[in-house]
Parts: sequence; C-alpha cells; structure tokens
Amino acid sequence: MENEKIMLSNGLKMPAVLLGTFRTRGEHVNTAVTAALKAGYRGIDTADVYRNHKEISETLEKVLPEIGLKREDIFITSKLSPSDQGAEACKVAIERILKELKTDYLDLFLIHWPGVRKLDVNHQDNQILRLESWKVLEQYHKSGILKSIGVSNFNIQHLDHLINNSDIIPHVNQVEIHPHYPQQELAQYCKQKNIHLQAYSSLGQDGSTSDLFQSETVLNVAKSLKRTIAQVLLRWGLNHGYSVLPKSKNPDHINENFNLNFSLPAREMELLDNLHKTETKKYAWNPDTVI
Ligand SMILES: NC(=O)c1ccc[n+]([C@@H]2O[C@H](COP(=O)([O-])OP(=O)(O)OC[C@H]3O[C@@H](n4cnc5c(N)ncnc54)[C@H](OP(=O)(O)O)[C@@H]3O)[C@@H](O)[C@H]2O)c1
Repeated sequence: MENEKIMLSNGLKMPAVLLGTFRTRGEHVNTAVTAALKAGYRGIDTADVYRNHKEISETLEKVLPEIGLKREDIFITSKLSPSDQGAEACKVAIERILKELKTDYLDLFLIHWPGVRKLDVNHQDNQILRLESWKVLEQYHKSGILKSIGVSNFNIQHLDHLINNSDIIPHVNQVEIHPHYPQQELAQYCKQKNIHLQAYSSLGQDGSTSDLFQSETVLNVAKSLKRTIAQVLLRWGLNHGYSVLPKSKNPDHINENFNLNFSLPAREMELLDNLHKTETKKYAWNPDTVI
C-alpha cells in the first residue's frame, strides 16, 4: 500500500499517488473512485475538460461515509480549461467547479495548458491571458479556497514568464514524465525553484498496448524484481520524487497501481534513466509550440 505523502512548498501534504481520471466518464467514475478509495488512495486528479466533476462528487458523497472518511481526508485536484483563460472567465470557472464538486475548497487547482483555446499558438494573448488566470488563482489561494495552486504542461519558458510576473511560484507543475520522456532539464529547473513535479502518462497513456509496456528494458526490470510493468513505471516516478497519477477503470489495476512499497535498486533505476537515449517517445500533446 502506498501512503507516501509529498510536502509542497506551501507546507501542504499531498498523496504521492493519486487516481487519474482523464477519459473516465459515466458509470466508470463510480467504479474507479470507489475501488481507489477502498484500496487506500486519498487523492483524485480531475479537470474541467474531463467532464466528470459531477460523477466524482456523487461518488464521494456516497462512498466517503461508507468507509469512514470525510472531505478533509481526500485531496482533490482540478484544472482550468484552456477555454476559460483570462480574469473573468477563470473566476466564473472556479466558482462553477466548486459547485460541481460540491466542495467549498480545492486542495490543488492548476492552469491546465499554457495556451488559450482557439487562439493561435504564437499569439501574445496566450501569455497575457494565462497571467490573468494566474492572478485569479493567487487571489483564491490567498483567500484559502484554493489550498495550493499550480500549472500543467508548462515548460521552462512558460514558468519563467509566470514567475517573473507574479507573486507566488507555482506549487506544482503537472507534466508528462516517464522513462521514454524524462524531461530532465525541466526537472532540474523545478527542483531549483521548489516546484513539485507531478508526472502524468506514467503508463504511456494506453497501458499494456503502449510502447512503454513493450520496452524490453522495462519488461526485464519488472521480471527481475517480480513486479508488474505498471508498478515499475510508477515506482520510477516516485523514486525521482514526483507524484504519480495512474489512470484505470479496472479495480484490479487500481489495486496493483497502489501496491508500490518496494525498492527499485540503483542499477535498475540507471537502466530506466538511460532508456530515453535509445528509445524516446512523447505520448501526449506538446506545449512547446505555445509561446
Ligand atoms: N495535465 C494534463 O494535461 C494531463 C494529460 C494526461 C494525463 N493527465 C492525468 O494523468 C492521468 C494518467 O495519465 P493517462 O490518462 O495519460 O494514462 P496512464 O495512466 O499513462 O495510462 C492509462 C491506461 O493504462 C491502463 N492501465 C492502468 N493500470 C494498468 C495496469 N496496472 N496494467 C495494465 N494497464 C493499466 C488503463 O487501462 P484500464 O482502465 O483498463 O486499467 C489505461 O488504458 C490522467 O488520467 C490524468 O488524470 C493529465
């Protein structure tokens, strides 16, 4: 059972393993969230664009009392949609998201993407509007409604621009990170600025059919440690100090992905750390195109 916690720069503790919910909709939300809470997960990662806030809040309302938990025992992250960037739209979105999740606070709220929906990636308004959104997040953080605030899919240039023009350094940056795409430069930068890196797509977005699962190196490490490929990939992220967000609708996988109390020896870490030199792949969208 993995109950590790990560201390963010604002002093708030966040579970190191949270349930990912991208593309988890309808009845699958109830199955996944219930299985996760029963397995011991205490964190859920959602986003406005995942369109599952309502199902998540309904499940929490039902399951939390059943297993003797309260809202405060759960860490909930959501994210601002790229279509709601800018001062006014961001405020309206936060108020709506709080209502949808039936909560008066969020543990973490992120700007999902550096760009603005339907705006050319080279347009300067991307910078102006995301800065406006950030100022709103800062206000809500100061008033205690957003306990932690951060960004997602921000590269070094996006972070530099934000930090140079605002009061609060993001507590978290949620980005794609796994042995096929380790983002070492960004990791170094975030470490220097005390920004916690949260790794997404640890399982190559598709699990067993992904190239990460087909990698002989990853397979051999898993075999040698008598662990599954998913467990090895998630442990690799945790060993680097990242939190991880395995997504699954399958209760067996949800249990497996939380069973991470094992060590990944230095030699195996090195093999995985070097994997990107021979095999490299980015599975999700590339934010580097956005100015
Ligand atoms: N901020 C962003 O822009 C962003 C982008 C992408 C993702 N995320 C967050 O990160 C989360 C995870 O990333 P992701 O959705 O890209 O996917 P992922 O976690 O890399 O992979 C999910 C896939 O792996 C399968 N899987 C899960 N556990 C498995 C296991 N133990 N063995 C074999 N297959 C397994 C799942 O299928 P089953 O359902 O059948 O288990 C699903 O198809 C998202 O849900 C979301 O919360 C954020």
